[in-house]
Amino acid sequence: MGIEKSVLIILHILGASIWIGGMLIMALGVLPKAKKANNASLIKDYEGSFHILGMIALTMQFLTGFRLAMIYAGGMKGLFDFSNHAAVLFIWKLVLILLTMGLFVVFKKKTLSTLENNNVSSASSMIWILTLISIALMVLGLGFSRGIV
Ligand code: HEM
Repeated sequence: MGIEKSVLIILHILGASIWIGGMLIMALGVLPKAKKANNASLIKDYEGSFHILGMIALTMQFLTGFRLAMIYAGGMKGLFDFSNHAAVLFIWKLVLILLTMGLFVVFKKKTLSTLENNNVSSASSMIWILTLISIALMVLGLGFSRGIV
């Protein structure tokens, strides 16, 4: 394997670990604790420390993933040739990451700004949607070279 592809994959897996790990900690660790304690600031504080890192991870996923998909699809043109499985996986991943970026901004600007101690549960659906999409992005990634999807 060439040096470019090796570096891209290492960065891509690092970004995936940060994003998926960060979301799972929020969904399975912070959210239940905040609900139990009726304490919205637990979620706000956690998101505050994760926001920049999460955004960097998403940007890294977008850039490294785009380049890796180009390598798999044999260039830019191949990315939109849907007879090619890599192109289909690429489009799904592109749609899901753009959705993630949009939802993450809405989560920060809308969901969290209206979150109070008496409505902590209203953050649940957004947190779980973002977490499940992150896992879907991982599963789709397993389709390129491992043929799992
Ligand atoms: C948060 C977003 C993302 C996550 C969590 C994620 C996760 C992963 C994971 C875990 C793999 C490893 C598969 C393996 O080891 O076989 C992978 C591979 C891959 N991903 Fe992503 N990915 C994300 C975004 C993207 C985006 C936006 C694209 C392109 C538009 C993309 C394109 C690829 C490609 C081409 C591979 C194949 C790499 C290889 O096996 O050589 N990914 N992804």
